[in-house]
Amino acid sequence: MSEQDPRAATRAPAGPAGRSDSGAAPRLPGPNSPHGGRLVTALLSADRAAHAAGRALELRTLSIDARAASDLEMLATGGFSPLRGFLGRADYEGVIEGMHLGPAYGGLLWPLPVTLPLDPHVARQLGDGEEVALAQPGEPPLAVMSVEEVYVRDLEREARLVYGTADPAHPGVAMTLAQPRAAAAGPLQVFRLPEPEFPAHHLTPLQTRALFDERRWRTVAGFQTRNPVHRAHEYIQKCALEITDGLLLHPLVGQTKGDDVPAATRMRSYEILFREYYPRDRVCLAVFPAAMRYAGPREAVFHALCRRNYGCTHFIVGRDHAGVGGFYGPFDAQDLVLRLAGEIGVVPLPFENAFFCHRCGGMATLKTCPHDEADRVSLSGTAVRAMLRRGETPPPEYSRPEVARLLAEAMRGQED
Ligand code: ADX
Repeated sequence: MSEQDPRAATRAPAGPAGRSDSGAAPRLPGPNSPHGGRLVTALLSADRAAHAAGRALELRTLSIDARAASDLEMLATGGFSPLRGFLGRADYEGVIEGMHLGPAYGGLLWPLPVTLPLDPHVARQLGDGEEVALAQPGEPPLAVMSVEEVYVRDLEREARLVYGTADPAHPGVAMTLAQPRAAAAGPLQVFRLPEPEFPAHHLTPLQTRALFDERRWRTVAGFQTRNPVHRAHEYIQKCALEITDGLLLHPLVGQTKGDDVPAATRMRSYEILFREYYPRDRVCLAVFPAAMRYAGPREAVFHALCRRNYGCTHFIVGRDHAGVGGFYGPFDAQDLVLRLAGEIGVVPLPFENAFFCHRCGGMATLKTCPHDEADRVSLSGTAVRAMLRRGETPPPEYSRPEVARLLAEAMRGQED
C-alpha cells in the first residue's frame, strides 16, 4: 500500500469529515488551527444523509454548475471554514468591498465571494425559506438548502472590486459577468460529494490533518498550483521543505480556463515527480478541488486560508501567484499575503523569480544569483506551450525529462 492509502479518501458521508453534523470534530488533528478556530463542515452523518437524500427527490431542484459544485464540496468538507454556506448579502458586501465577512462571522478575513448564482426565473418562484435540492444537470442531488435569502449582485462592480478590472479579457471577470445576477443563500445540508476525478489523491481537510499528525509534522508548507510541475516549482517547494517538517503539494483540480493544461496531465506530472524526486515520508500529494478564479493577490490570500484549513502552517507564494496575462504585478500577491499574514494565520514563504543558471550550475533566484540574463534559462508558460504543440520537449533546465516527455506527448498537435 502506498504512503497515501487511497481507501482513506472515502467519499462516503460517514467518513472522517462526516463524523459530526455541521461543526467541529472532537480533538481536531493537524499542526495549525483552521481559520476562525474550528473546522466548519456541512456533511451529514450516514443516517441523516440517507434521509436528506430521500427528501431531496421531492423538492424543487436548483441546477448548479461545476464551479458551484466544487464550492459546495469545499464548504462541505471544511476547506472554506469558517463559511457555513454560500454568502448572504451582508457577508457578500463585506467580502467584495473590504475582504472581510460580516458580524455573523465576527468580521473574519475572507477575500473572495463564494456565491450560489440563481436563474432569475427560478428566483422569482422561490418561497421564503423554501427547501431546495442542489444538483448538477443529469446528476443526483448533492445537498438540500433552505433558501433564506435571495439577492441581486452588481456583477461589474463585483468584478472591479475583486479582480481590480471589469475587462472581460480577464478569465475570472468573464466567468463572473456570465453568471446570472441573482444569488441564493441559506443553511446547507450536504449528503453527497461530486465524484472525485483523482480518488487516490482526494483528501479532505480532516484527512490531511490526520496524515500530518500521523507523520508527526509540526510544520507543513502548502503549495498551490494550476500548472504542470517544472523545475522552478520544484526548487521553491524543496527550499520550503528545508525549513518545514512536511510539504503539501496541492494542485488545484477544479475548473480552470480552457487553455490551461488539463488536470489529468498536471496530476500525472506530479505523480512522476512525487515518485522519482521527492522523499515520500516528507511530502503529501493531494488535490485541491476548488475552481480557479485568477484573482491574483486576493486569490493568494484565499489559497493560503484554505491551506490553513487543510492543516498547513506555512504557505508558498512565488512570482505572479494566481495571476493571468499582465493583470497583476509579479509580486502584488506576495505583498498582500505578507501584509495580511497575521490575519491569515500561516507563515508566508515568499519566493523571487526562480530559474536555472548555467554559471551557478543549478536553480537559483534573483536573490541568490549574481549572473546575467544570458546565463539563465527562464521560459515563459506561453513559450513552453508553443514548443509542446510543435512536439518539442522543453530543456532539462526547465523541466525534468520525464515530465517534459509526458507534456510533449499530451500536448502534441493541440490547437492554440
Ligand atoms: S498559480 O496560478 O496556481 O499560482 P502556478 O501553478 O504557475 O500558478 O504557480 C504555483 C506557485 O509557484 C505560485 O506560488 C507561483 O507564484 C509560483 N511560481 C511559479 N513559477 C515560478 C517561478 N519561476 N519563480 C518563482 N515562483 C514561481
